Amino acid sequence: MSKATIDDIDVAGRRVLLRVDFNVPLDNGHIGDDRRIRAALPTIRTLRKRGARTILVTHVGRPKGKVDARLSVAPVAQRLGELLGVPVPVAADVVGPSAQALVGTLGDGDLGMLENVRFEPGEERNDPELASRLASLADIFVNDAFGTAHRAHASTEGVAHILPAVAGYLMARELEVLGSVLDNPRRPVVAILGGAKISTKLGVLTNLMTRVDRLHIGGAMAWPFFRAKGAATGRSSVAEEEVTLARDLLDRMPDGRCTFNLPVDVVVAGEVRDGEPTEVVSWDAIPDAAMVVDVGPATVAAIAASVASAGTVIWNGPLGVYEIEEFAQGTRGVARAVAESDAVSVIGGGDLASAVEDAGVTDKIDFISTGGGATLEFLEGRVLPGVSALRDRVAVPG
Ligand code: 3PG
Repeated sequence: MSKATIDDIDVAGRRVLLRVDFNVPLDNGHIGDDRRIRAALPTIRTLRKRGARTILVTHVGRPKGKVDARLSVAPVAQRLGELLGVPVPVAADVVGPSAQALVGTLGDGDLGMLENVRFEPGEERNDPELASRLASLADIFVNDAFGTAHRAHASTEGVAHILPAVAGYLMARELEVLGSVLDNPRRPVVAILGGAKISTKLGVLTNLMTRVDRLHIGGAMAWPFFRAKGAATGRSSVAEEEVTLARDLLDRMPDGRCTFNLPVDVVVAGEVRDGEPTEVVSWDAIPDAAMVVDVGPATVAAIAASVASAGTVIWNGPLGVYEIEEFAQGTRGVARAVAESDAVSVIGGGDLASAVEDAGVTDKIDFISTGGGATLEFLEGRVLPGVSALRDRVAVPG
């Protein structure tokens, strides 16, 4: 990790603008999964202990530059306050009089939170005016929002060019772990990719194909490959463009080190709903009236065997419709296999983190990334704008 962190700067008595990614699922003000908030606690606690005046800034949802009370950060600040054991006051605006007043009240070791930064129209277009107003609230910028590092927004990228900008501990750990599984992994490396569409994972697929030893595909992104290989997929809708992509990928598959593994069997059902009876069929014998909802037990066994002899496992995306108990068995079976293996295990994406939690093996996974799109872009080998804008660590001559 070549970026400077909060350990490289003195924050005592300084106003620190801390970008976090507290974009958590909110249902009527109730937080479904607070993992992203908990993941930022080490940075927040350290800043407090070192006497910084911490001004937290995050987005929640996609309000598109308009104030939307349902997407206020208030429930998020309250949850953070519960976790820290101190109240977290919230400004009524992002860079207006309320934000300025809040910052003015902060003493050393205190913290407060700005309102949802995406209420500002300038945030997503990386408006220099908004970036400079955010910067005027603080002396130092700390970015701990790995999950939003793939966005070049005013609060992730713009402001980092104005204030001295360093990484928080979560950002540093994400970069270190994901960087090492790509660049310097224990081999053999097994990648498991699931989720909905090939098109959203094309970059990851093509990059991983050149770096890993075995690639396993599951979830709905496997179904177009079945079609490309001439099999039917019943009533599961598969877009023609996805089939074309699958065909191209199969044609381009490099000979040699990386083996490419599709499901050998699948679970099918009449409908995607709770309590629906299921059947296991071969990948090339999917009945016309059925929908594919999960990978089958032979596929789980094959992935488990692959994982058992792996040095590193990278996994992104669930392997079936895991939200429905009957269709979650493939994802859970693989989660248990990954947990039992001695491989370094790294998983990404909020969906998969929940599925792994349901399987009860979260504590046996080495690293669960807080990123969704950011993790994917990183695994594609792309430079994330929120990261590149941070200061490089200065090498101390030995
Ligand atoms: C995420 O949830 O992946 C991040 O918070 C980024 O959110 P966005 O996709 O709305 O930019």
